[in-house]
Amino acid sequence: MHLITFITKIFHFLPEEIAHRFALSGLRIVYESGLLKILLGKKVKGTETLDNSFDKKVYKNKLGIAAGLDKDGEYIDCLSALGIGFIEVGTVTPLQQSGNPKPRLFRNKTDKSLLNRLGFNNKGVEALVENLKKRKSTIPIGVSIGKNFDTPNEEAFKDYLFCMEKVYEYSSYIAINISSPNTKGLRELSNDKFLRDLLVIIKDKQNKLSESFEYVPIYIKISPDEELEDLEKICKSITYYEIDGIIVSNTTVIHNDKNGYGGLSGSPLKNKADEKLSFIKKIVGDKISIIASGGVMSASDYLEKIDCGADLVQIYTGFIFEGPKLINDILVADSP
Ligand SMILES: Cc1cc2nc3c(=O)[nH]c(=O)nc-3n(C[C@H](O)[C@H](O)[C@H](O)COP(=O)(O)O)c2cc1C
Repeated sequence: MHLITFITKIFHFLPEEIAHRFALSGLRIVYESGLLKILLGKKVKGTETLDNSFDKKVYKNKLGIAAGLDKDGEYIDCLSALGIGFIEVGTVTPLQQSGNPKPRLFRNKTDKSLLNRLGFNNKGVEALVENLKKRKSTIPIGVSIGKNFDTPNEEAFKDYLFCMEKVYEYSSYIAINISSPNTKGLRELSNDKFLRDLLVIIKDKQNKLSESFEYVPIYIKISPDEELEDLEKICKSITYYEIDGIIVSNTTVIHNDKNGYGGLSGSPLKNKADEKLSFIKKIVGDKISIIASGGVMSASDYLEKIDCGADLVQIYTGFIFEGPKLINDILVADSP
């Protein structure tokens, strides 16, 4: 077994949230000491530069880390040293918040899934911006933004605008997270009326900000639990208001996990996320970009997302279970 894979497995004996923190801190120490390259073995070549007509940023490959792994942008340099093409940091909110009570993250080894009800624990958008300014890595960084737990939905737009303004000049794209199941009422923002109002305001802000800074694409991250009829409306609104892309999808709340409520990710999410991805691709065609997320646990899962129409693909749970080996396997499988 590759040394770094062995280390990844050892972390699985620790409680989930502690394991994630230790693993990322350990990765950063190893990166800063210069040992990461030795541990990783032979270097993986990034695939060809992505030719994406909606997003002119240069991606050395199509594989990224999904939102939530590096909420405060503290691990950008060490994660990017693993060979991935981009990272989505966040979700951040205007003000720091501690999230839901613990325990709130559970690992199921048999199903290869995670159940989380973290609830946007983060250090606030300003702390994230400081980390974005300090990063050495030049890979594209998407920033996922959300609302504080105590901001009513009627005022949620103010939180999104506040975060957009703060992160705009430091982001390669901005993801509007309206699909986390762990902030009460957040998913209501994808209802037709709320969404249309929100998209108008966000598009207007993007237009204004792009007069002063380089144009930054906006993506909307959606839930995999939307009915097809609602999903169609969401897609039509997104294209109508000229939003640049969609992220399919967040975690699912439709499950019987023994640990109770929260969003489920990993293997059990794969088919549902793929179905939604294919459906969306049929509706939007090439009008907007699509980032796929949900249940990529192997190189073949990744290739299926590309076949379903994804422009870029993200991993989270697969990375927790398999470690850097998953990145390596995917990049090898997608090499020309
Ligand atoms: C512990 C955990 C925390 C997450 N936090 C966020 C978050 O803050 N924002 C977000 O948009 N998605 C978040 N997600 C969802 C992931 O970004 C991803 O969309 C989802 O887990 C499906 O991908 P996967 O099956 O590869 O894990 C989180 C997922 C997990 C497991």
